[in-house]
Order: sequence, then structure tokens, then C-alpha cells
Amino acid sequence: MRIGIGNDHSALELKAEIIEYLKEKGHEIVDYGTNSNESCDYPLYGEKVGKAVVAKEVDRGILICGTGLGISLAANKVKGIRAVVCSEPYTAKMSREHNDCNVLALGARVVGAELAKMIVDVWLNTEFEGGRHQRRVDLIMNIENQQ
Ligand code: RB5
Repeated sequence: MRIGIGNDHSALELKAEIIEYLKEKGHEIVDYGTNSNESCDYPLYGEKVGKAVVAKEVDRGILICGTGLGISLAANKVKGIRAVVCSEPYTAKMSREHNDCNVLALGARVVGAELAKMIVDVWLNTEFEGGRHQRRVDLIMNIENQQ
């Protein structure tokens, strides 16, 4: 899979571990930054990755900030993005099966590297179930389309 990854200054170490892990698994990674540990503004990176997913430059996005919150909120402002913060694998699995989420957000100050890898694995390897869940996802997207 081709995966876009973006982060703020709080997440450089975790990002490096995730990139290495995903490359070992055969994924292609597009890194949208930041690659500096100088304090920066996470919305810029949430927006970049969100736009890359919608433009189909990448198949899915992974975002990391201190909590995963701010960067996922920013990505969710891009039309077509369904981003969620996950801190354990069950939510990651359900976010794919029921919500067809296209961006996963992680908190570098919340999860350790091994848990983050487990979450990423489950999230990348779980398919959307469709059916009644498609109707509900469509209802979510209708809200966005009415704005
Ligand atoms: C940066 O200090 C921090 O606010 C950011 O990484 C993130 O947690 C915001 O939601």
C-alpha cells in the first residue's frame, strides 16, 4: 500500500519507527513532514496528508502529533477525510470495518512504539464491511456535502 505520513515536532521518533516498520512490511511511504524537532503547527501536516489522500496521491494516511487530536481534527476539515485517533487495536479495527476511516491518527505522547505498530498493522489490514455501514458512512459524508 502507498501510505502518506505526517506529524508535528512531538512525533519524530515514533514516525521514524513506524516508517521503518511499514517499509519492512513492503509498504511505500510518502513522508509529508515535519522532519525538524523545532516546534511547528500540526494543522499544516494534517491538511497536507488529508489532501494527499483525497487526491489519491496515497491510499491511506497516518498522522502523529502529541495526542493525535489536533492533527486529526485538521485532517477531518478536508472534504472526504474520515480521520480517527486510536490508542488501542480494537478501535483501529472498528474504524475500518464500520467507519471506513482513511486516516489514522496516533498520539506520540500516548502510545509506545510497539503498541503503535500493532494499531497500524490492524488498521492497514482490516477491510470496510460495507452494507449497513455504507449507509451510515454516506450519512456522515452527506453532512459534509451540505455545508
Ligand atoms: C504540541 O505541543 C501538541 O499540542 C500537539 O502535538 C498535539 O498534541 C495537539 O493536539
